[in-house]
Amino acid sequence: MKLKLIKGMRLVAATHNAGKAREIDALLDGHYTVVTAGELNLPEPAETETTFVGNAMLKARHAAQFSGEVSLADDSGLSVAALDGAPGIFSARWGGPERDFASAMRKIETRLEELSATDRSAWFTSALAVAWPDGPCVVVEGRVDGVVTFPPRGEHGFGYDPLFIPDGHDLTFGEMMPELKDSLSHRTRAFEMLKAALID
Ligand code: IMP
Repeated sequence: MKLKLIKGMRLVAATHNAGKAREIDALLDGHYTVVTAGELNLPEPAETETTFVGNAMLKARHAAQFSGEVSLADDSGLSVAALDGAPGIFSARWGGPERDFASAMRKIETRLEELSATDRSAWFTSALAVAWPDGPCVVVEGRVDGVVTFPPRGEHGFGYDPLFIPDGHDLTFGEMMPELKDSLSHRTRAFEMLKAALID
C-alpha cells in the first residue's frame, strides 16, 4: 500500500482549535480540504503517552478511527535540559486553563534558580502524525535547539516564544518577525519532513 497524501483530498485535523487547523492548512500550502475534529464532533482523547511522537500518533489514530478518514495530529512543546526535559509534553498544561504562559515561563526560571542550574540549553519539538483509518500511521519529529533567557523578551508569537533564543541568533522567537521564526522553527521542519515523505 502506498501511503501518500493526494492533493485535493479531505484531511481531518485532530484538533478542536480552529486556529491550529488554519495553520496546518497554510503549512500544507492549501492543497487539502482541512476539517477539524471539532467540526466533526469527534471526542477528544486523553493525551496519555509519554513522548511528543506518542501523543501525536495517539491523537491521529483516534481521529482516523472515529472519522473513517485520513487524519493529521501534532504535539509540540519546549524542553529545558537542566529540568530533565520539562515542561516537554506538559508545555500546554503548564499554562493552565487560562493559558497563562507568563506564569509558566516564571515557573521555568524559578525551577532553574532552585537547582542553581547554569545550563540554559533548551529545544522546541514538533511531532506530526498522519493516520489512515485502516491502521497505518506515519510520524515525523522536527526540532530547533537554543537557550532560554530571562526575563522573557518580545511581543510576537505565542506560548514560550519570548524566552527562547535559537542557536546562531541573538533575538528570542518573541522578538523575531514571524517569517524569520517560521524559517527556523521545529514546526516548519516537521512539515517539511512530512511533505517529503507523503506528498509526490
Ligand atoms: P499542543 O498544542 O498540545 O501541542 O501544545 C503545545 C504547547 O507548547 C503550546 O501551548 C505552547 O505553549 C508550546 N509551544 C509549542 N510550540 C511553540 C512555539 O513555536 N512557540 C512557543 N511555544 C510553543
